[in-house]
This record gives sequence, C-alpha cells and structure tokens, in this order.
Amino acid sequence: MKVFINKRIPEVGVEILKQAGLQIILPENENLSYEEWIKYCQNTDTILSIGGDFKYDKAFFDVCPNIKAIALYSVGFDHVDIQEANQRNIPIGNTPEVLSRATSDVAFLLMQSVARRASYNFQKVKEGNWGAFDPLHALGQELYGKTLGIFGLGRIGYQMAEKCRKAFDMEIIYHNRSHNEEAETELGAKYVSFDELIRNSDVLSIHANFTPEHKDLFNYSVFEKMNPNAIFINTARGGFQNEQDLYRALTERKIWGAGLDVTNPEPMSADSPLLELSDVCVLPHIGSATIEAREGMARLAAENIVAFSNGDKMPYCANP
Ligand code: DGY
Repeated sequence: MKVFINKRIPEVGVEILKQAGLQIILPENENLSYEEWIKYCQNTDTILSIGGDFKYDKAFFDVCPNIKAIALYSVGFDHVDIQEANQRNIPIGNTPEVLSRATSDVAFLLMQSVARRASYNFQKVKEGNWGAFDPLHALGQELYGKTLGIFGLGRIGYQMAEKCRKAFDMEIIYHNRSHNEEAETELGAKYVSFDELIRNSDVLSIHANFTPEHKDLFNYSVFEKMNPNAIFINTARGGFQNEQDLYRALTERKIWGAGLDVTNPEPMSADSPLLELSDVCVLPHIGSATIEAREGMARLAAENIVAFSNGDKMPYCANP
C-alpha cells in the first residue's frame, strides 16, 4: 500500500510506516501547487496529510477516486468534509491528546503576554526606547483570582483551565456542547450560557473544534458585551474571529487585548492593522510546535495508516 506524505515529519512516524512495509511517497518540493498535490493524491492509496491548505471535499474525492484513507497530522479536521468522506467509507484519522499540553501552553503564554503587554514592551526595547522607570507607564494587569472563560472544554481547554487554576487560582466558567464533569469536579468549572461566558470572562479562550456555524462567532456584537479589561485568546482556528470587528473593538477599548495563534486567513498579512496595536500578540500557528508534540503527532498519524493497512479501525478517527 502507498502512503503519500506531503511534507517531512519526525522520523519516528516514518519508521513506523517503513516497519509496516508501506511504500512512502515524498514530494521533491514540499510547497506543492494544488495541481501538483492532486497528481500525487491520484497516485496513492492513503495520505499522511500535513497542513490545511487544500480541502478534502467532494471536488477532491471526485478527482482522486483511489484514496482509501487519510491520516491527518493535526487534531483539527475543519478542512475535511467528513460527511463526504463517510459516504465514500474513507476513514479520516487525526492526532488528539499528544498536542493538548503544547497548545494549552501557547494559550497560557498568550494570556500572560497580553496581560503584561509583552509585545508593546518588547517593541520599545527593540526601538532603543527602554525608558526610565515610570510608576504610571506600561502597566499590565494581574490574573490572580480572575475568571477564565473557556469556549469548548475538551482536552486542550481542560489543560488551559487546569494551568490557570493552579497558577493563578482563576475561577473557571465554560460553554460547551455538553457538560465536562471532570472539569466541574476537579477544577470547580461552572457551565454557563454563551451570553454569560462573554459577559463574565476576564480572559476568554477558545478551544473548540471549528465548524462552519462558528464562522465569525466572535464579532463586534460579542466583543462589545465583554468586560473592557477582558483578554481574548484564540489558539483554535482563525475563522472564529471577525478580525475587522476585533480591530474595532480593540481601538474602541471594548476589550483589553488579544492573543492569537491562529488568524483568518493564514498566514496573516504583514500589513494587518491588528499588528499595529500594542495590546495584540500574534503567533504564527505554533500551538503544537514542540519536539514532543510533533513526534507524538507523527506516531499517531503513522499508527492510523498502519491500522488501516492491516484492515483495522484507525485508533484516532475523526469520523463519527
Ligand atoms: C491542529 O492539530 O489542529 C493544529 O492546529 C495544527 O494544525
């Protein structure tokens, strides 16, 4: 069985595939055009798929009828039409758990960076403008005892909540499709409506799977209901936020600041007005970018392919 891997991955994943006797196809150039990518996909049985640049939708499956399984190198699967894959009996593997710690670390990092105005202060140092000690300048805010609101309390949201609880004794409120009993018992997390979440959070952090209904969910009418000292954090998917509205809300001081590891589109344009704001910290989608997480992702994605090639169910599968 052939496996097309569109970018190099940590060796641990490649070893698993080799030991299973699978034929690995790697492109000569990793920055494939859509046409080049389709050609590779037409000549393989399975894909170990890195990145969300190209969609797995009806048009794709129609022109690549030989594809039997896809193992995503990500936990998110918003670039896959799962219904379409289901209709064609194509399992879609993903890589949950192994990146929860790393991604929640980035949410925690962004929260503190925005609270203590790290981007603004770093910029001043780079400009040679350190300045004299000033009791009234560049003041941040402390997070102790504040309220963390989590939108989407799954594995990553749980780890963010746990860090905030332990480090800053923060109260946890959350809005989710269903109750998270572990978070309620272990962290004292309280389930609230979406409206209560946005009104009562001092830090609002998104950790949900992105679906089309979520597009621009965080828009001006949401931001204006938030507390003027609230910090907005997104490490999930950029589509959750309307960036023009976020800019307006920040310039009108409806909220304190924003920390984004994901933007819409990605990459964010270097002339995005959000980058001019001192209380915005933007990272280039590095949530899972640790050696440990990326090796874990390589292992799970490879194990998904091997399971499929043995006629077994993928151990980590996005299809219901
Ligand atoms: C994921 O795994 O979904 C991360 O966002 C990396 O794409």
